[in-house]
Amino acid sequence: MKLAILGPSENVSAYTTKRLIEEARKEMKVKQIPLVDVELKIDKSLDAIHEKESLSEYDYILPRIDSKRAEIGYPVVRFLDHMEVKKPYVAETILIAHNKFLTLEQFVKNGISVPETYLTASKNIAKDILGKQKFPIILKLLSGFGGQGVMVMDTKEAAETVIEAMKTLQQKILIEKFIVNPGEDIRGIVAGDEVIASFKRIALNGERRANIKLGGRGVAFKLSDEMEDICIKCARAIKSEICAVDMIEGKDGIQVIEVNINPGLQGIEKATNINVAQRIIDFVKSEIKR
Ligand SMILES: Nc1ncnc2c1ncn2[C@@H]1O[C@H](COP(=O)(O)OP(=O)(O)OP(=O)(O)O)[C@@H](O)[C@H]1O
Ligand SMILES: [Mg+2]
Repeated sequence: MKLAILGPSENVSAYTTKRLIEEARKEMKVKQIPLVDVELKIDKSLDAIHEKESLSEYDYILPRIDSKRAEIGYPVVRFLDHMEVKKPYVAETILIAHNKFLTLEQFVKNGISVPETYLTASKNIAKDILGKQKFPIILKLLSGFGGQGVMVMDTKEAAETVIEAMKTLQQKILIEKFIVNPGEDIRGIVAGDEVIASFKRIALNGERRANIKLGGRGVAFKLSDEMEDICIKCARAIKSEICAVDMIEGKDGIQVIEVNINPGLQGIEKATNINVAQRIIDFVKSEIKR
């Protein structure tokens, strides 16, 4: 069995890539292929090549494409779609998952509850929308991570100031209802038809965003059957076999806020003591054999 981890270069690899390689090496041959080193060739047919070898030689390709690498990753995964190489998602997934608004659009189309959300490029429309909202409200950048780019606004005046700034920075404006909750974000990691691990992130005192990068604390948490079903539905909605689904439980039930096709494993492995990397590799193995 031959696996390629497609994404970062070896010298910038973080915890998760290292862990996946470490677990995979116990079972199969693994090669780390930096996206920047892939050659795409259009001739009578299409090929994606690394060090003179076609990527179609691999039994499975596990992309690690974060939002910074989405632009370079998209055409490569698109070629792999045509080449019919086994991998967890299609090129379209990259566009959807790295855009919080398109993610919510897919979820709603698939009957999954999400917070009421608006998108506009016009500050006047944004101000009109704000006029009809209760506060706090959330303003988000379309593609952020680690809580950076998520702003909880307590007043209309504060929100308008940020909207002016977003406009100046030529950002679209995503306005999302704030789900009243205890400052907890619930994450399930999906591989195939299963949730292989889950945990909860609890926000630092005085902070409403539960991200670990913002001081949040990860604790083991078993999902309810309903939450598990939601996670699987979300993964299908974005056409990804492997992903993390983030939910918030508010008074109106569970609402999904985002999905991550490049989930970090450090926080969840530490909080749960589950070898999540191994479970992902187990899934990859079963896909190769399928
Ligand atoms: N609609 C909402 N209502 C209440 N809290 C929210 C809402 N959206 C986001 N949050 C809080 O803000 C945090 C960050 O939001 P979100 O997950 O969208 O951003 P992120 O920067 O992409 O995070 P990640 O690093 O998980 O990708 C969430 O973990 C949650 O605690
Ligand atoms: Mg998040």
